[in-house]
Amino acid sequence: MKMTKLSEIYVCEICGNRVIVDKIGAGTLVCCGQNMILLEEKREDIGKEKHKPVIIFEENKIIVKVGEIPHPMEEAHYIEFIELLKNNYIIARSQLKPYEKPEAVFYITDKNIRVRILCNIHGLWT
Ligand SMILES: [Fe+2]
Repeated sequence: MKMTKLSEIYVCEICGNRVIVDKIGAGTLVCCGQNMILLEEKREDIGKEKHKPVIIFEENKIIVKVGEIPHPMEEAHYIEFIELLKNNYIIARSQLKPYEKPEAVFYITDKNIRVRILCNIHGLWT
């Protein structure tokens, strides 16, 4: 049996529920009568769509832009959130809406972080 890991994201393929693991237990996540599906984190862009986060470290802040070419931010296709993780704990998150810029600024001085973003169509990138 597969154990969940901290900050993994699971979705229900039937109703669309989505959950983030913030404490690890032994059970399997189930929704609508079936196992929830793990959203795999992708690392490399394929094709012309750009999702890999571009991270700019400044003295007192971290700027994250989604894609070296800005990702679309339309009703049907947009970046839902940008978040920072440290030791797999989510330490900051910016929730985005269509027509906003696909970027976020975090006033955090710790540079030892990992960035994760979610595209509503193409999934999770780190
Ligand atoms: Fe996308």
